[in-house]
Amino acid sequence: MEESIIEERDYELKNTNSENTGYTVKIKTEKCFTFTDKNTDELAVIIPEILDPTYGMYVWPCSVVLAQYIWWHRKSIRNKTILELGAGTSLPGIVAAKCGADVVLSDSADLPQCRDNCQQSCHANGLAGVTVVGITWGRFDPGLLNLTSVDIILGSDCFYDTKDFEDILVTIAYLMDRNSNAEFWCTYQDRSSDRSLDYLLLKWNLKCEKIPLCTFDAESSCLAGSTLPGNHTIHMWIIKRKI
Ligand SMILES: C[S@@+](CC[C@H](N)C(=O)[O-])C[C@H]1O[C@@H](n2cnc3c(N)ncnc32)[C@H](O)[C@@H]1O
Repeated sequence: MEESIIEERDYELKNTNSENTGYTVKIKTEKCFTFTDKNTDELAVIIPEILDPTYGMYVWPCSVVLAQYIWWHRKSIRNKTILELGAGTSLPGIVAAKCGADVVLSDSADLPQCRDNCQQSCHANGLAGVTVVGITWGRFDPGLLNLTSVDIILGSDCFYDTKDFEDILVTIAYLMDRNSNAEFWCTYQDRSSDRSLDYLLLKWNLKCEKIPLCTFDAESSCLAGSTLPGNHTIHMWIIKRKI
């Protein structure tokens, strides 16, 4: 996987306070991620980003790893229905849609600017058929209740604040009750050794399989060098319902 900034577009100046004295500078960029394999198969995906404190406005390292996992398993996801939670700039969902999955992207129902970003990523990649909905973890928003069936749920760097851990698993458990074979493919960045999902997985009758990064070429020097911060390990997990 290669990553390059293809354009640093414009600077948008905005008044930020009532006295009209303060400005923020929003830097918009577009990144191109190129996925390849030994058989000369190749996919280039363009992701617009905005340098902004809101978390869903730029590509997090976890999403590059999850997108690489999807690319690696692209033959098995064709025609599958895939929902991405907390999608932000949506790199994994966009890769899945480009590989032939039927994709729904979601971000918090309370963060329309993040859902706009999902739309912009669809637009940048010519994906008119991808739906974007508001789903807030742990809440039964219409975006969640109106979903028909789901085969795979994606979540990249959603487990970053411990206050949200159980809400995310409540949403996952609800989806798995309605789709008993569904799997949650997620990437997790280890930000503190005190954190664990084990108790919550047990509580919600879920189990977690850890997928070594080396099994899907996510430890390549390109990924490690350009995107992954040195001290924060990223994990790939598949969470399923316990039988
Ligand atoms: C760390 S960012 C990760 C974004 C993207 N998945 C990635 O890896 O690049 C967390 C994402 O979760 C979304 N989010 C935060 N709180 C949420 C909530 N309560 N419900 C749904 N989404 C939420 C944010 O808007 C943001 O897009």
